Amino acid sequence: MKNYYIGVDSGTQSTKTVIIDGEGTVLGKSTKEYGLIQGLPLGHMEQHPETWAKAMIETMKKAIKVSKVDSKLIKAIGVSGQQHGFVPLDESGNVIRPAKLWNDTSTSEECSIITERLGGADKVVDVIGNSVLPGYTAPKILWLKRHEPENYALLDRVLLPHDYLDYVLTGAASMEYGDASGTALMDIKTRKWSKEAIAAIDQGLIEKLPVLQPSDKPVGFVQEDISVELGLSEGVIVSAGGGDNMMGAIGTGNTSPGKVTVSLGTSGTIYAYSESPVIDPVGEVAAFCDSTNAWLPMVCTMNVTVATELVRGLFKLSYEEMEGLVKDIPPGSDGAILLPYLTGERTPNMPDGKGVLYGLTPQNFTPGHISRSAMEGVTMGLNYGLNRLRELGVEPTEIRLTGGGSRNKTWRQIAADVFNAEIVTLKESEGAAYGAALQSMWCHRASQGDRVTISEITGNLVEVDESSRVKPVAGNVETYRLLQRKQDKLSQASRPLFTP
Ligand code: XUL
Repeated sequence: MKNYYIGVDSGTQSTKTVIIDGEGTVLGKSTKEYGLIQGLPLGHMEQHPETWAKAMIETMKKAIKVSKVDSKLIKAIGVSGQQHGFVPLDESGNVIRPAKLWNDTSTSEECSIITERLGGADKVVDVIGNSVLPGYTAPKILWLKRHEPENYALLDRVLLPHDYLDYVLTGAASMEYGDASGTALMDIKTRKWSKEAIAAIDQGLIEKLPVLQPSDKPVGFVQEDISVELGLSEGVIVSAGGGDNMMGAIGTGNTSPGKVTVSLGTSGTIYAYSESPVIDPVGEVAAFCDSTNAWLPMVCTMNVTVATELVRGLFKLSYEEMEGLVKDIPPGSDGAILLPYLTGERTPNMPDGKGVLYGLTPQNFTPGHISRSAMEGVTMGLNYGLNRLRELGVEPTEIRLTGGGSRNKTWRQIAADVFNAEIVTLKESEGAAYGAALQSMWCHRASQGDRVTISEITGNLVEVDESSRVKPVAGNVETYRLLQRKQDKLSQASRPLFTP
């Protein structure tokens, strides 16, 4: 009899759900789009966790229907979620207020307070392995305490987005190492809550943090009402799940040393599996854990498809039309450079950053040039991070590309040329949802006494799409090397102008 598994990726713009069989074949998919809460002050990015929960149930139902599998044979569910968001629950388990998200930049002041209380930037990296940045969860909690004391007084449980969905599914509140490493409250070396970091916010906070669990331990079983709604058998396992990048690592087969994944989504991320913590003394490379009980040094930029989508919207282009225009413009966009910090930036750390379009001339003032400069600008922004990872010893020869942007052939060539590495995409482009499904398979097989490792599973089931492979072109690599220098200089020069 066959076994089936569900992977849910709850993202910032949509929820994507896949259903796979035991051989890793995707049999059904479903997506539900949504937006952010509108009308908030600049820098405030929020969503209501209810939106994610509804989308999760709806897409699971649809994916099961599309796949035509017998829902009684579904054995486990894995959930991936946007990292860092702060879901505050009261003592009845109700959400107190909307979640502040990974791309919310309103907490710069709280970051400074926590950093100062911990003894300065270097000390913070010593204590937790990471810097305290506005994207992370810790400053969001202090923000609630300072700005909404009445809501803070109700706070009983701190959850991350994917933990909240696991809580909806099972009724159990827990956190696994991968997503917890993005809170800036856990010492990523020991994988324990950091007493110092917690005390910098509130001694009592420890009572409100869930138990930390290894990534191969299930959260629990699907509750009866949801089982009935989806037509599941009793006892369907919910695996630990994890942050979308951690799940993306599994879904792109990045579960053993030597591989690098780049995700071109709303945010851009670059990460590599590691068997020991990789700590950046200046905290620019995030020292995260992965969701397989290892580590995942990672660089995140906040503006990838944010920038390309705004340009596409401005010129009212379809994806195909935009790619068509970009293809005909030479590498370097005839001098137009986009500094893409439209929603502020995390790497380099500039929460008040703004976008800058530089080098305009009558020749390059065209939709095609500006579109290409957006793709190049965000890719070079990521390359700044890749260069930082290189300094810490990560040297990619092949990069696995995932996320929405990876579907664009011209962008893949730009990525190969900017990163100076071969680029290949995966047969399954929904890396995080697929990774969540594979993690749930791992968890279910372990529950049956099967001691298979996650890298054996991904080694056997995750397939690259050879037809997508592109190699760097020497001349273009040189063009982008020079352009990168200019973009880095532009970034440095613009910084003093960004302060509010
Ligand atoms: C990573 C990060 C983003 C979100 C996007 O640190 O903040 O990639 O996880 O969902």
